Amino acid sequence: RKMLNTGDMRKMKKEGQPIAMVTAYDYPSAKLAEEAGADIIFVGDSLGMVVLGYDSTIPVTMEDMIHHTKAVTRAVKNSFVLADMPFLSYHGSIDFTLRNAARLMQEGMAKAVKLEGGAEICDAVSACVKAGVPVMGHIGLTPQAINQLGGYKVQGKRVDQAIKLVEDAKALEQAGAFAVVLEMVPEPLAAWITEQISIPTIGIGAGRGCDGQVLVYHDLLQYASPVKARFVKPYANVQDIVRDAIGQYVKEVKARMFPEETHVFPMDADVMDEVKS
Ligand code: KIV
Ligand code: NA
Repeated sequence: RKMLNTGDMRKMKKEGQPIAMVTAYDYPSAKLAEEAGADIIFVGDSLGMVVLGYDSTIPVTMEDMIHHTKAVTRAVKNSFVLADMPFLSYHGSIDFTLRNAARLMQEGMAKAVKLEGGAEICDAVSACVKAGVPVMGHIGLTPQAINQLGGYKVQGKRVDQAIKLVEDAKALEQAGAFAVVLEMVPEPLAAWITEQISIPTIGIGAGRGCDGQVLVYHDLLQYASPVKARFVKPYANVQDIVRDAIGQYVKEVKARMFPEETHVFPMDADVMDEVKS
């Protein structure tokens, strides 16, 4: 199957073909996401919460993002890998923003970057796009702004907030973003935004009217994720499988039931006799 590009994604929107995006953070998660046929494999800064154990995405650094993006791109042969720009890595000067975007693409080998915010970050978006860096926007609940938003809650319920989200989506399209994530946005508003722009919307907690969906690997698998949100559908219960398997191993070691004959390496008895003599 052929590698998607940003033009293909726009075409998918036009043709009404949904885009399936999933996060991955390391070699096994990326390998399985690719084998499963995800359209976009996304190294989200959610890695701070689901694999590094922080209580927000704010502590995630450029070094963290590069380290995990490299692991993902080593696993992936033929998929579009998108990487998040972490907290404050696309603010300040345009030079600083471009340098960080370049690192995610040159060291991490990502195909594109994602950054959070609307009209206020459009200078950064258009600088990246002009430099040849494909950018996905992200509006609605933007977790890097959690200390201003005051919690992981639905955004855009008030008229002024809803209108701001519509304007932000249009501004991102104007700035050259190839798609935009809508996170925790009421379904009718997300559907309206989707109709108002020609680039795909990728929803998470944004309902059925979006052009695509994204979920966090550990949420969709129920793999020790700290998040229990309404918008998550658990497609498996990996944590029970892993906990039970490790528990069985621990029990068998303690009972001297593991290893068994099939797991061990034999040796000639006469050689061993000489060693002992
Ligand atoms: O980091 C992340 O996983 C994200 C998605 C939830 C969109 O930004
Ligand atoms: Na993110």
